[in-house]
Amino acid sequence: MIGEIKKEYNTENLVYKPAGQFEETRFEKIHNIIFNNSIYASKIVAKEIAELIQLKASENKMCVLGLATGSSPIKVYEELVRLHNEENLSFSNVITFNLDEYLPIEPNNIQSYYYFMHEHLFDHVDILPENINIPDGTVSPEDFYQYCVDYELKIKEAGGLDFQLLGIGRTGHIGFNEPGSHYNSGTRVITLDHITRQDAAPSFLGIDNVPKKAVTMGISTIKNAKRIVLLAWGLNKAKVIQKTIEGDITSQIPATYLQVHKNTTFILDEESSSELIRIKTPWLVTSCVWTENLKKKAVFWLSEKVQKPILKLTDKDYNEYGMSSLLAKEGSAYDLNIKIFNKLQHTITGWPGGKSNADDTNRPERATPSKKRVIIFSPHPDDDVISMGGTFDRLVEQGHEVHVAYQTSGNIAVTDEDALKFAETALTLTDDKQNINAIINDLRRKNQNSIDSTLVRKLKGTIRKTESLAATRYLKVPDNNVHFLNLPFYETGTVKKNKLSSEDIDIMSNLIEQIQPHQIYAAGDLADPHGTHKVCLDALFKSLEVLKSKKYMNDCWVWLYRGAWFEWDSHEIDMAVPMSPDQVIKKRNAIFFHQSQKDKVMFRGDDTREFWVRAEDRNRLTARKYHQLGMADYAAIEAFKRYYF
Ligand code: F6R
Repeated sequence: MIGEIKKEYNTENLVYKPAGQFEETRFEKIHNIIFNNSIYASKIVAKEIAELIQLKASENKMCVLGLATGSSPIKVYEELVRLHNEENLSFSNVITFNLDEYLPIEPNNIQSYYYFMHEHLFDHVDILPENINIPDGTVSPEDFYQYCVDYELKIKEAGGLDFQLLGIGRTGHIGFNEPGSHYNSGTRVITLDHITRQDAAPSFLGIDNVPKKAVTMGISTIKNAKRIVLLAWGLNKAKVIQKTIEGDITSQIPATYLQVHKNTTFILDEESSSELIRIKTPWLVTSCVWTENLKKKAVFWLSEKVQKPILKLTDKDYNEYGMSSLLAKEGSAYDLNIKIFNKLQHTITGWPGGKSNADDTNRPERATPSKKRVIIFSPHPDDDVISMGGTFDRLVEQGHEVHVAYQTSGNIAVTDEDALKFAETALTLTDDKQNINAIINDLRRKNQNSIDSTLVRKLKGTIRKTESLAATRYLKVPDNNVHFLNLPFYETGTVKKNKLSSEDIDIMSNLIEQIQPHQIYAAGDLADPHGTHKVCLDALFKSLEVLKSKKYMNDCWVWLYRGAWFEWDSHEIDMAVPMSPDQVIKKRNAIFFHQSQKDKVMFRGDDTREFWVRAEDRNRLTARKYHQLGMADYAAIEAFKRYYF
C-alpha cells in the first residue's frame, strides 16, 4: 500500500506522473517520483527542506533534520547553500543529526563524514556549530554503548527528526544499517558489509584502507522521523530500488522497512527507476502509448521471456503477456514480427563508418563521404579499446581518418607500486637524478591521507600515456592523431573532481573544431551521476551545444558506446558491429597494452573480472542476445546508440 503523502510535488519536468494511479503502481509499496535528471530532482528536495525550515522559523520552532552523506545528497546540499546565499534561507533554527560515521576515523580525515558535511554544507551556511551532531568516529570501544544511547537521547530531546534525508547502498542499507539489521534497532556500532566497503574503496584509494566498522542511527531511529525522503540516482541502484519498492519486507534489504513508514517518498531518476515493473514492462500493468521504441522493447522482452526468436512469436504469446493492444494496433503477430525483425537486422553492420557505393537506406551509417574523419573520445586512457576496440580497428582498416582523444590523464588509477617501479627504472638511466629522487621520496613518504605531488601525478599520467600510444600504434593510428586532452576538472590528485569549467569545454570544442569530424564516438555512461565518465559526457554535450550552429556540424553524427560497466539494452542499440574471433583476439591484445590497469586495478568496483574479460563477456553476450532474437550467430558484437543534438 502506498503511504499517505503530505508533500505535493510540482509535476513539471517529471518523466512520469507521481505514482498514485492504482493500476500502474499496484506492485509498488513505497511512494516514488521519477525525475528525468538528478539535478532538477535535488532542487525540488532542497526546496521541500527549505520550506520546512522556514515554516518552523515562522512558528518560532527549531527544525530537526536528519542528514546523509555520500554522492546522492551532494546536489541537494549545493542547492541549500545557494538558497542560503541568494534567497536568504537561514539555518539559525536548524538542528542536524547525521546518520553515520566510519569507525575509527579522525574528523580531519578527508574521508570522514564530518569532513564531508562541513565541506558540502555546514561551512557555507549560518548553522550554529552547537546544533550540528555527527556521530564521533574517535569514540573508544569501551565508550561506544553509552555514546550511542546518548545520541538517541539527544535526538529525542530535540523533539525527534522532522525530516530525514537518505541515500541507499547497493546492499539495501539506509544509514549503515546493513543486511541483517533489526527493524527495532537504535543507534549502534556495526560491521560494514563487504559490498559497501568495495563501493567506498575508490575514495579511500583501495579497499584495505576502508574502515571495517561504523556507527549508525538504527532503523527505528530513522523510522521515527516524521518525513523521509530517499534519493537514488543511476543504474547502479536500479536493482536494489526495485527490490525495496516492490519486494517483501526483509532484514536482508533493510530499506524495505520503509514500506511501513507512511510519509516516505523515494526520489528517483530514469536510471535508478529502470527496473520497476511500470517502467521496465509497462504493458504488464497499464495500457501503453505504443511508441516505436516501446514496441521494440516489448517484442525483444517477449522473445526473451518465451525463449523464441522474434519470427516465431504468435498472437497467443502477445495476448498472454499484456500486449493485445499492440497486436490490435499492428494487425497480427506476423506483421509485427517482420517489422521488428527488420529493424533489428538493420542495426547490424561491419562498416561502422558507412559502406561506400552501397545503398545506405537501411544501414546505420551514411555511405558518403566514403572516407570519414572520426574522433573517438575516451574518458580514461583505455576506454576506447575496452569499449570499442573492434569498431576502432575496423574504422582504421576501412581507411577512415581516425583520431583518438583521451579526455583525462587517468593518473589516479596508477598504483604507487607501479609508479615506484618506473621511477626506479628511470633512475638508472639518467645523471640528472634530482626529480626522480624527489618522486621516489614522495611515493615512499605517502600515506593514505596525502595527495600525490605534481611530479608523481606527472609520472603516473605519463605511464598511462605511453601505454595508450602502444595500443594506438598497434591499431595503426599515427601518433599525430592521438590527443591527450588532460581535462583540468580531473586534475585534483584525489578521487573527488572539480566541476566542469569553460576551460574543459574549450579544450573539447577546439579539437572538434580543428578536426571537423563526420563521426564522434563517446562513452555514453549515464549510470554514475558523479563519475568521470558522466562528466566527460557532459563536457561533450556542452561542446556540441557550443558548436551546433557551425555548418560542418550538420554532417557530424554522434555514436555512444557504453563504458566499462554496462551495455545498452538490445532495444536501445542503433548500430551493432559484429566481430570475428580474430578481431576479438586483436581487441584483447590492444587492451593488454594498458598494463597498469591489469591485475590489481584500483577502480574495478565489485566486479573482480579484469577489463579484457569483462569486455569479451559483454560483447559475447550482446552477440548471443542478437542470436536469440533470430539474427546470425556472431562471435561478439560491439553496440552503439546514436545521440541526436
Ligand atoms: C551515508 C549513508 C549511506 C549512503 C549510501 C549511498 O551517510 O548513510 O547509507 O546514503 O551508502 O551512498 P551514495 O549516495 O554514495 O551512493
